[in-house]
Amino acid sequence: MIGFDLEHISRVKDEERLLKKIATTDEIAYIEKFKNRKEKVVSLWAVKEAVFKCLNVESGSFSFKDIELNHLENGAPIIILHGKAKDFAKGQRVEISLSHTKDIVGAVAVLVKD
Ligand SMILES: CC(C)(COP(=O)(O)OP(=O)(O)OC[C@H]1O[C@@H](n2cnc3c(N)ncnc32)[C@H](O)[C@@H]1OP(=O)(O)O)[C@@H](O)C(=O)NCCC(=O)NCCS
Repeated sequence: MIGFDLEHISRVKDEERLLKKIATTDEIAYIEKFKNRKEKVVSLWAVKEAVFKCLNVESGSFSFKDIELNHLENGAPIIILHGKAKDFAKGQRVEISLSHTKDIVGAVAVLVKD
């Protein structure tokens, strides 16, 4: 399965509220390092929406915090699933790719069976 999401940065009015709703403690700490905080929060949201879509489940099936975005040393994004999201993946892993313009962030997620 594949999941894809686009979000407009300017349409998010309260990025701090969004961050609290969707982010794990580690993701919040990672975002603290950047000046373009709002872009990072919206891009995290797009990632989680894309991953949600690739899992092919009903809305509200698990918490946003069950999907965790992390990074390799070279900056490449990786996804770690927890809780119910991990259960829905049934041993498969998720690969993710992200892209940004000035106002739009896009994310694509693929559920992969090894
Ligand atoms: C369903 C949802 C993904 C739609 O997102 P949106 O920002 O309103 O709309 P988008 O344009 O990004 O996506 C719409 C498309 O998503 C697809 N879609 C709808 N439900 C879906 C589902 N359960 N799984 C995968 N894709 C879905 C459809 O193709 C839809 O397009 P269509 O209406 O033309 O058929 C969103 O409302 C949602 O429920 N998100 C997950 C909420 C959630 O459970 N969060 C916690 C875990 S991350």
